[in-house]
Amino acid sequence: MEEQRKKRIYSGIQPSGIITLGNYFGAVKNWVELQEDYDCLFCIVDMHALTVRQVPADLRKNSLSLVAMYLACGLDPEKNIIYIQSHVPAHAELNWILNTFTYMGELNRMTQFKEKSQRHAENINAGLFTYPCLMASDILLYQTDLVPVGEDQRQHIELTRDLAVRFNNIYGDVFKVPEGFIPKAGARIMSLQEPTKKMSKSAEDANSYISMLDDPRNIVNKIKRAVTDSEAVVRFDPENKPGISNLMNIYSCITGKDHSAIEAEFASQGYGAFKSTVGEALAESVSAIQVKYNQLMNDKGYLEKLISENADKAAYIASKTLSKVKKKVGFLPK
Ligand code: TYM
Repeated sequence: MEEQRKKRIYSGIQPSGIITLGNYFGAVKNWVELQEDYDCLFCIVDMHALTVRQVPADLRKNSLSLVAMYLACGLDPEKNIIYIQSHVPAHAELNWILNTFTYMGELNRMTQFKEKSQRHAENINAGLFTYPCLMASDILLYQTDLVPVGEDQRQHIELTRDLAVRFNNIYGDVFKVPEGFIPKAGARIMSLQEPTKKMSKSAEDANSYISMLDDPRNIVNKIKRAVTDSEAVVRFDPENKPGISNLMNIYSCITGKDHSAIEAEFASQGYGAFKSTVGEALAESVSAIQVKYNQLMNDKGYLEKLISENADKAAYIASKTLSKVKKKVGFLPK
C-alpha cells in the first residue's frame, strides 16, 4: 500500500540579530512539537533580512547561528529540511511573478510595513513594501499546508492565501492554499518593560526582551525587573494586568500549565515569589538550549554541510512548483 504523504509545514525566521523569547515561544517551540507529524521545511530567511540594512559579516554570522539555534531548540536535522533562503533562487523568481499579482492597496494595508517604515524612516525601500510577496513565495513554492507563526504574521498569511486563490482562479490548481497555525499561549509575547507592546529584538532597552543567548542569571533579573501592576494578585487579565498576564503566558509556555492552574499555584503568593519561579524555570530551559547551541557552534563545518545539502533538497521541491508557474504564465521553455 502506498504510504500517504504527510501534510507539509513551512516557516522561517529572519537572521537579523538575536533570537528572542518571542521567536521561540511564538514559532520554534511549536515547530519542534509539530515536526513528528508533518513533513517540514524551516528556512533562515536572509533575503527578508535585507529589507533593513545589514552589516554583511553579521548577516553571515547570524544566519549560521540561527541554524544552530533551530537544532539546539530540538529540530531534528535528519527529518526536517533546514536551509538558507538565498541558497534557493526559486524564491526570488516566484517573488517577481507574484509581485505582478499583488495590488499596491493590499501591501499598503500591511501593519508590519507601516510599523517598520516608521522605525526605518531613512530607508523605506521597495523590498520592505513587497516583503509579503516574498513570504508568500516561500510558502507557496512548497505546496504548504500549515504555517506555524506568531500573531504578528497573521496578515501576511491572509495575503498569501489571497494570492494563491487569485492565481489558481486564473490558471487552475497551481498552489495549495495554506492555513496559518497560531499557538494559544505563545502567539504574542510582550515587552517586559512595556507589556502592551510586542517583545521585539529591535527594541532599544535590552531589559524589554529576553534573548535566547542571554546569560541565565540575566534572564532571572530581567523577569524580576518586568513591569507589573500594584494589585499583587496573580490573575490573567491582559487588558488590565498586561505585565502579569505576559509572565503567566511565558510560564504557561514553559510548563504547559493553563492560566487557572497558574492562578491557583500562586494564589497566596506575592509577585516576588511568582517572578522568581518564572525566572528560574525560564533560565533553566533556555540554558539547556544554550548548552546544545554552544556545542553546535563549535562545529561550523557540520552546520555548513547540512545547509548545503538541504539547499539542494529544498531547490528540488521548489523547482517543481516554479516550472508549473512559469508554464502557466506563458514563459517560453528553455
Ligand atoms: P520574524 O523573523 O519577525 O519572526 C519569526 C517568528 O517569530 C514570531 N514572533 C513572535 N511570536 C510571539 N511573540 C513575539 N513577540 C514574537 N516576535 C516574533 C513571528 O510571528 C514569526 O513566526 N516574515 C517572517 C519570516 C518569514 C516567514 C516566511 C514565516 C519569511 N517567510 C514563510 C513563515 C513562512 C518574519 O519576519 O518573522
